[in-house]
Formats: sequence, structure tokens, C-alpha cells
Amino acid sequence: MRKPKVFVTCPIPEAGLDVLRGAVDMEVNMDDRVLTRQELLAGVADADGLLCQLADVVDESVLAAAPRLRAIANYAVGYNNIDIAAATDRRIAVTNTPGVLTETTADLTWALILAVARRVVEGDAMVRQGRFRGWAPRLLLGGDVYGRVLGVVGMGRIGQAVARRARGFGMKVLYYDRSGISSSLETELGATRVSLEELLRESDFVSLHVPLTPETRHLIGREQLAMMKRTAYLVNTARGPVVDEAALAQALAAGELAGAGLDVYENEPEVHPGLLGLDNVVLLPHLGSATVDTRERMAVMAAESLLDVLEGREPRAGNLVNRGVIGVFKNK
Ligand code: DGY
Repeated sequence: MRKPKVFVTCPIPEAGLDVLRGAVDMEVNMDDRVLTRQELLAGVADADGLLCQLADVVDESVLAAAPRLRAIANYAVGYNNIDIAAATDRRIAVTNTPGVLTETTADLTWALILAVARRVVEGDAMVRQGRFRGWAPRLLLGGDVYGRVLGVVGMGRIGQAVARRARGFGMKVLYYDRSGISSSLETELGATRVSLEELLRESDFVSLHVPLTPETRHLIGREQLAMMKRTAYLVNTARGPVVDEAALAQALAAGELAGAGLDVYENEPEVHPGLLGLDNVVLLPHLGSATVDTRERMAVMAAESLLDVLEGREPRAGNLVNRGVIGVFKNK
């Protein structure tokens, strides 16, 4: 009997490939580069399963080029790169990697909060470039983190993990979330639910943790930035298009905000040129989940989910994005 064919678009850790080895025929792109559209179309042509990453745009035309495709495992928790409705129409199961990258992404969010407020990157550059002349009263003064107000936009897993860490910094936590969290969790996190406007007006640090959807695109634009304190910082480890990047660059350049820490961009890998010359921005290359252990866990989870679908099992609870395909696991 023909083994299912799986196309893996990026070099995931060996532990993930080991899950698939033997059970499927694999074609893996081992180069550290995003595949061209042509390569993606060619790869899925005879594939039963696709294991892909955020930079792979899996839209209707890719699905149309993949008549055998039954499962797509995204090597990420976000899945805005995949046309979920089109996949569901074709009864293709889509999975993601929730949970395993929560704490790692929360850690990186805090790295950005601390780096931008305490001017860590500027300080590092000063020392390396031989510009450090000794302690000085006015040298690289930043903003305090301890005891300030943290505003968490989107109180899902990662938002909660970021809020939990704020307790160690003696911070007051406000949050904005469409559906809210339970009152016991609010108590545990010491978090108070407020409107987005109140959060923006009151917070010293605003950290974004919403998925990218039509509703959250440019959730933070010129008007919202103008509501923030001039001494406040914006941190985005969610998705670039949640922020109007041009408006952010303008606000930062005009001193309407103290600074920003960004891990994600509106048109990745491009960065708005207005941000590149600013000292009050810390820019990272989408590293939220980038630790050895977390990437390994993501790879194993993605591979297991893919195999589950291809072998007729429902993937582990929470990993199936489009529950509308639930019937496809029966009678296999
Ligand atoms: C995700 O998982 O959505 C991150 O952005 C990439 O790891």
C-alpha cells in the first residue's frame, strides 16, 4: 500500500522528522529559506500532508494544486498564513502548536519590555563602540518597570503568561480581551479587565497578544497610539499587522511614545524604514518561540498532529484549528 506523502517546507528539528520517519514518505526542504511559490505548488502536488511555516502562504490556489491533501500542520501557534475557510471547504484538517511555546514567547516579551525601557541595546552598542567613558548622572536614563502599569491586549495563553510574570515586578495589570477570563484567574493574575481605550490611557507598557484576524488588523493605529501616555512603551510579539507600522514610526519619531519593542512586522521580513533609524525601538527578527527546546516541542507536536490526521485519528484536543472537518477522522 502506498505510504502517505508528506511535504515539509522548512528544516524543523530532527525530533519532528523522527515522528514522521517510517510512517510516511517525506520530502523536506532543509534550506534556511522560504520556498518560492512555484516550489510550494510543486511540493504539494502529490502530498497527502503538508507541514509548513508562517511564511508559507497556503491559500486557495495552493489547495487547488494539492488534490490529495488531507492535513496541514502549521509549525506555529498562529495560522493567519492559511486560508482556513478554503481548507475546511475541501475537508482538509489544519492543526497548530498551541501551549508548547507559551512560556518561551512570554519570556521574549519580557526581554523586549526590559530592553526597551532600560535601553539595553543602546548601552551594549555604546560599550562595544568604545563610547563608554564611565558612570555618568545622565547616561542612558530609561523608564522604570517595577511598580508600573502593564496593559495586556489579548488575555489568551501568552497574554496570561506575560501577566503572571508582571507580579514579580510588582506591577498593576490591566487587560483587554473580547471574552475575558474567569474571575478566579483574574484574581490569580491580579488583572483587571478594562476597555481598550482605558488600557491605552492608563498603561505604562502595552503588550499585544491577539491573533491576527480581520478585526485585529491595525487594532493599534494613529488614534490608539495617541491615547497612550508619552512615557509609555508598546511591545508587539503577536503579529505585525495588528499595529499600523507607519503610524507607530511617526509617533515614535515625534516623541509621542517613549519607545517600542517589536518582534513582528507588518510586511515581514521588511521593516518600515522609519523604524530603523530610531534609538527608542528594539527590533527583533520574529524570535518569540526561538529556543532549542521549544522549537523541538513544536516540531514534535506538528508532526504528531499531521500523522494523527493521516492515520484517521482526531489530533490532540486543542490542536485542530478547523473543527468543521471533524467528520474526516471517521471511517478511515
Ligand atoms: C507562532 O507560533 O505563531 C510564532 O509567531 C512563531 O513561532
